[in-house]
Amino acid sequence: MPKTILITGSSDGIGLEAAKLLASKGHNVLLHGRSSAKLDAATKTYSELSACRSYIADLSDLGAVKQMAADIKKDQNALDVLINNAGVFHTPNPRTASGQDIRFVVNTLAPYVLTQSLLPIMNESGRILNLSSAAQASIREDAIMGKTELSPGSAYAQSKLAITMWSRYLAEDLGAGPIFIAINPGSFLGTKMVKEGYGMEGKDIGIGADILVRAALDPEFNDRSGQYFDNDSGHFALPHEDAMDDEKTRTVMSWIKALI
Ligand SMILES: NC(=O)c1ccc[n+]([C@@H]2O[C@H](COP(=O)([O-])OP(=O)(O)OC[C@H]3O[C@@H](n4cnc5c(N)ncnc54)[C@H](OP(=O)(O)O)[C@@H]3O)[C@@H](O)[C@H]2O)c1
Repeated sequence: MPKTILITGSSDGIGLEAAKLLASKGHNVLLHGRSSAKLDAATKTYSELSACRSYIADLSDLGAVKQMAADIKKDQNALDVLINNAGVFHTPNPRTASGQDIRFVVNTLAPYVLTQSLLPIMNESGRILNLSSAAQASIREDAIMGKTELSPGSAYAQSKLAITMWSRYLAEDLGAGPIFIAINPGSFLGTKMVKEGYGMEGKDIGIGADILVRAALDPEFNDRSGQYFDNDSGHFALPHEDAMDDEKTRTVMSWIKALI
């Protein structure tokens, strides 16, 4: 049975590769990017994507995220899988118009807002896959609130722990479903994020795309809501210790809710 699957950040990298794999299996893949030129090029270049619907939104603008969710709800009666894949690490402009670090907005807040907005069209067997990372670091209030300068690595690692935390939080809060899984797709996969950020070629992008396809479709993920899959080891694993700490998670959730 074909599933309707939204992949954010499917104009490039792991998201584009996963979109191609899922569309070639006959699923109704909804593409997302911030550049209509890049998405048009993708749908023209890859025949398996030619029938895919595309949505444009700059995820550093939470108003644009809400508008995209409204457009999707107008077009689609149901969504089976949401893959919150879009992410940013190095960027020449790390501050949003509202003064926040863009890593927190794009990597943590935008997927939270998108998920909350799309939950009404997802049922209990739906899946929300949140792209985490092996890089996770304790979140500081002044950092998430945009009150301090951060190195790209520090902002990125804090933003990735934050998405891992809200993934487990919503899994427990919603209880019956949908299923939430935080996923490290594999470290140093050869996307533009890794090439630009580390100046290296990196490993096969397919490693990350394959785990997203498995997590979107395979029954092995059914009973794993709230957990963290580490594709460096190829297993479910414990995330950063803060993500397993209920009090720290409640505190971070209060910051996230204040910011949105
Ligand atoms: N590659 C790795 O080794 C690795 C390891 C751990 C985790 N991850 C995570 O995997 C996910 C995919 O990363 P990737 O390596 O495939 O990177 P990538 O090739 O740079 O792709 C990132 C995607 O996110 C989109 N994006 C970035 N900023 C955006 C914004 N403000 N609004 C809308 N879309 C935006 C990009 O759009 P454009 O095409 O317009 O830039 C692109 O489609 C990320 O969440 C990343 O943190 C990657």
